[in-house]
Amino acid sequence: MSKRTGVFLILAAGKGTRMKSPLAKVLHPLCGRPMLCHLLDQTMSFRDMRTVCVIGHDAEGVRAVLPAAVGSVIQSPQRGTGDAVRVARRAFAGARVLVVAPGDAPMVSAGTFRRLLEHHRRKKALATVLTAEPEEPAAYGRVICNPDGTVQRIVEAVDADPETLKVRRINTGIYAFDPRALLAVIGRIGKANRKGEFYLTDAIELLSARGCVASLNTDDPDEVTGINSLAELARLEGAIQKHLRGRLMENGVQIPHPQSVYLEPSVRVDAGARLLPGSHLAGRTVVEAGAVIGPDAFVVDSRIGPRSRIWYSVVEGSVLGENVVVGPFAHLRPKTRLAPGARVGNFVETKAARIESGAKAMHLSYVGDVTIGAGANIGAGTITCNYDGFHKYPTRIGPGAFIGSNASLVAPVTVGAGAVVGAGSVITKNVPADSLALTRAPQTVKPGWAKRRRERMSQELGRRKKGG
Ligand code: UD1
Ligand code: CA
Repeated sequence: MSKRTGVFLILAAGKGTRMKSPLAKVLHPLCGRPMLCHLLDQTMSFRDMRTVCVIGHDAEGVRAVLPAAVGSVIQSPQRGTGDAVRVARRAFAGARVLVVAPGDAPMVSAGTFRRLLEHHRRKKALATVLTAEPEEPAAYGRVICNPDGTVQRIVEAVDADPETLKVRRINTGIYAFDPRALLAVIGRIGKANRKGEFYLTDAIELLSARGCVASLNTDDPDEVTGINSLAELARLEGAIQKHLRGRLMENGVQIPHPQSVYLEPSVRVDAGARLLPGSHLAGRTVVEAGAVIGPDAFVVDSRIGPRSRIWYSVVEGSVLGENVVVGPFAHLRPKTRLAPGARVGNFVETKAARIESGAKAMHLSYVGDVTIGAGANIGAGTITCNYDGFHKYPTRIGPGAFIGSNASLVAPVTVGAGAVVGAGSVITKNVPADSLALTRAPQTVKPGWAKRRRERMSQELGRRKKGG
């Protein structure tokens, strides 16, 4: 590794016992993504620093969410934060600087890391502790300072006496280290404490005996919040959601019942759009001006054009033009493209469907691997039979075509422009433009048959009753 490189070491090996959940703590989703990923976004924005994660509990699961550029070191068993850093020592030996952060602090910003690094460099310290003074110091480690303001040691809340617990300055678990100095003391940490773990915080006391341990106090304690329980995670999620909705409303998005709207930070909603109760927008979704989402709509990775409306529906990986109506109760699966004025609703499922302007599929249909021309009408219960158990095939429906109710279009097949398919037909051959295709058996009518049958049956019943 080049001497110039710095290293972020993210501690993410713990189980998260206080979560009381089978999922590894750092994999719990926050705004739709594992909480660890939010932190990695920030550390990976430093071009002169490498990011390495210490993993252990559910190492495979955690590794699966790590971006390719992030290294990993396994810690097994997990014997404390000091042990985690010791296990990873080869990843930072020779580095210019080391920043350690807990994987359970998802809100820390790149700016805060930058200020910590800058302060650390200016103070020429062996270590710099990022501290905070939250309203509730609760379970955080307490930072004990020397009279000159440098850090003397950190006492874990579980090991602290009542007097120490009164200290308001807490350890955020985020530090900058001189790697060489840390390596000199990391093997000397003991585990004579309430938890019987190797505490990284003990390295601070060992370093302060050898030189300067500086501290930087953040003015935003919320940003460095560590998540230890599902209730804390939900509180943080709530705060982020409130912030995201607030920002949209400030920018001219109507959200009449904000608490019921769920947003991922990656979505874009333009001024003049409305998000009604139960709207859930995820991934790279864009909602353009005048569009109305909800009540009750889940939209992911989709583009919703101006003045379009989606209600009581699920829309995934789709692109909708302007003035499109989706719902109630439609499911648009990936690669659905709806041109301006198209309509899909009432128990219709689409997949890889290109539906041109003004075309409609409004009732109980499946249309997949299909192109539907402008103004075509897809009757109730139409099914594109796109799959033969081995391969998928396309269906083409020309502009202005009319597909009668309950038709099955067995792909690959083309229905020409302006053609009509009779209700209940099973279409296996191409239908030329402007023609009628029917596969129904001709209807027979027997006048009086039903009445004669009724009479015969009631006579028979009468005879049986007498006889029995
Ligand atoms: C730690 C600090 C505490 C600080 C708090 C800030 C110690 C001893 N205490 O306490 O002073 O106020 O963070 O949030 O460091 N981990 C491993 N391997 C292990 C143990 C933990 O990788 O063997 C990881 C965990 O997955 C977690 C992080 O280290 O992401 C912090 O561990 P956690 O148990 O949450 O420490 P706290 O008790 O919160
Ligand atoms: Ca923690």
